[in-house]
Amino acid sequence: MTTKKSDKDYSIYFQPPSLTDAKKRGREDIQVHYDFAIPEELQQLGKDKYYLIQTYGCQMNEHDTETIMGLLEQMGYQPTEDRRQADIILLNTCAVRENAEDKVFGELGHLKHLKIEKPSLLLGVCGCMSQEEAVVNRILQKHPFVDMIFGTHNIHRLPHLIKEAIFSKEMVIEVWSKEGDIIENLPKKREGVKAWVNIMYGCDKFCTYCIVPYTRGKERSRRPEDVIAEVRELARQGFKEIMLLGQNVNAYGKDFEDINYRFGDLMDDISKIDIPRIRFTTSHPRDFDDHLIEVLAKKGNLVEQIHLPVQSGSNEILKKMTRKYTREQYLELVGKIRRAIPDVVLTTDIIVGFPGETDEQFEDTIKLVREVEFDSAFTFIYSPREGTPAAAMEDNVPAEVKKQRLYRLNEVLNEYSKRGNDRLLGQTVEVLVDGESKNNPNVLAGRTRTNKLVHFEGPKDLIGKFVNVHITGTQTFYIKGDWVREQAVAQ
Ligand code: 5AD
Ligand code: SF4
Repeated sequence: MTTKKSDKDYSIYFQPPSLTDAKKRGREDIQVHYDFAIPEELQQLGKDKYYLIQTYGCQMNEHDTETIMGLLEQMGYQPTEDRRQADIILLNTCAVRENAEDKVFGELGHLKHLKIEKPSLLLGVCGCMSQEEAVVNRILQKHPFVDMIFGTHNIHRLPHLIKEAIFSKEMVIEVWSKEGDIIENLPKKREGVKAWVNIMYGCDKFCTYCIVPYTRGKERSRRPEDVIAEVRELARQGFKEIMLLGQNVNAYGKDFEDINYRFGDLMDDISKIDIPRIRFTTSHPRDFDDHLIEVLAKKGNLVEQIHLPVQSGSNEILKKMTRKYTREQYLELVGKIRRAIPDVVLTTDIIVGFPGETDEQFEDTIKLVREVEFDSAFTFIYSPREGTPAAAMEDNVPAEVKKQRLYRLNEVLNEYSKRGNDRLLGQTVEVLVDGESKNNPNVLAGRTRTNKLVHFEGPKDLIGKFVNVHITGTQTFYIKGDWVREQAVAQ
C-alpha cells in the first residue's frame, strides 16, 4: 500500500483545481504546440506492462481515451481487459451529472482491493471530475490509495506523471484550472472505420446548470489546416465516417483573430475530402448560422442528421438556464433547417426538473417536442453541480415529480421515434455495418446516414462496409431489414 500522505508531499505536483479560477476567462492568446514528443527515457516505462482504461461520459471523453491509449502504447504499455493483469488502471471520468460521479466513487471502492493485492498497480483518475476541487479533496481524504489525478488539460503530461507516480511513491496531482493551449500531434489509438476528430475544445457559454465550461476550459478552436490535415490522413487510412467533436461546434472559429473562418467554412472544406460520411456534435442553437445550413444542404458526405440540444421548451426556463434563445427562435431555426434539408433527422437533449420548473413550463417542453417531431433525444433529470449558478437556485421540484416528467417526456419522444422509423418502411437505405448485434450474433447492426440503428442478417465480412438494406420492420429504437445483395453500393 502507498503510505499515508501529508500535505507537504504534494508541494511539487499538487496543482489543485479551482472552479473560481476556471470561471475567469483570460484574454491571453491561444497557444498551439506542435512539438509534442515523449522523451526517449519514458518510452520504455511500460515495457511488458498492461493498461486498462474505464471511460465514462461523452464522446469527447471517449476520444480523450484514444489519446491516452496512444500515449500509453508509445510508452510500451499493452492493452488488457483483465483488471488483475493490469499494471495501470485509469478512470476517465464525467462530471456532468451526479450519478456519473457516484459510479466512479463506487468503482474506486472496488479498486482498493486490487491495490491491496498488487501494490505496484498504478491507479489514476482523470477527465472532468478531476477538475473539481471537491472531488480532488474527497479522493485525498477517502481514497488515498489513488496514485495519480490529472486534469483534462494535462493529458499530454501523462508520461511524466506516470514516471513521478512510479518513482516518487507519492500521490501525483496535476490539474490546471484554466488553459488556453492546444497540443497538436498527440498520438491516438483508433479502431474500426469510424473516427472522432476534435475541432475545438472548451465552452464559453456558461449555461447555468452546466459544469463543462469549468472542467473543459475556455473555447479554443484548432486551426483549420490542422483539422483538415487530420481528416485527409484518416481518409487515406480508409476510415469511412468522421465525427467532428466540440462542446459547441457552432462557435468554431470565433476565437480566430487573424482569419474570418467559421464552422460553415470548415464543413465546406471537409466536404471536399474523400470520406463517405461526416457528422458533428454538439451544436448550440444560438450560433447555428445560415451559411452552415447552406453548406449542409449540399449534402454529399455531410449527413442529414443534426443534434440540436434544446434543453427546455419554456422561455422562462430557457432564460434561467441562460441558453440565450427563445422557443420561438429555436422553432424558427428548425423551420429554416427543414426547408433547406427536407429529409433532415433532428435529435436533441432535454433537461426536466430544472429549479422552479412548473407543470405549465414542463408542458411547454412537451408541446415543443410535438412541434419539432424529434427522431430521438437524450433526456435528463436536472442534477445540481457544485459551483454552477443553478446550484444556488432553490431546487423546489420534488424528486417524484421530476421522475414522472422524465417518464412522460420519454413516452412522447418514443412515439415520434417510432413514427420517424416508420417513414423508412419499404425504403432501401445505405448502412455502414458496425458489427454483430448486441443480443444476437447472427444479426448484424449498422447505421444509416441519419444514424438510425439497423439490424439485418448477413455474413460477418460485411462488417466495416457499406451495404444496402431494404427496411421491412420498425421498433422504437431500431429498424429491421433485408440485405440487398445484388445492388452495388458506394465505397
Ligand atoms: N443536469 C442534468 N443534465 C445536464 N446536462 C448538462 N448538465 C446537466 C445537469 N447539471 C445535459 C444537457 C447537455 C447534456 C450533455 O447533458 O442536456 O446537453
Ligand atoms: Fe454546457 Fe451549455 Fe456549454 Fe453545452 S453549451 S457544454 S450545455 S455550458
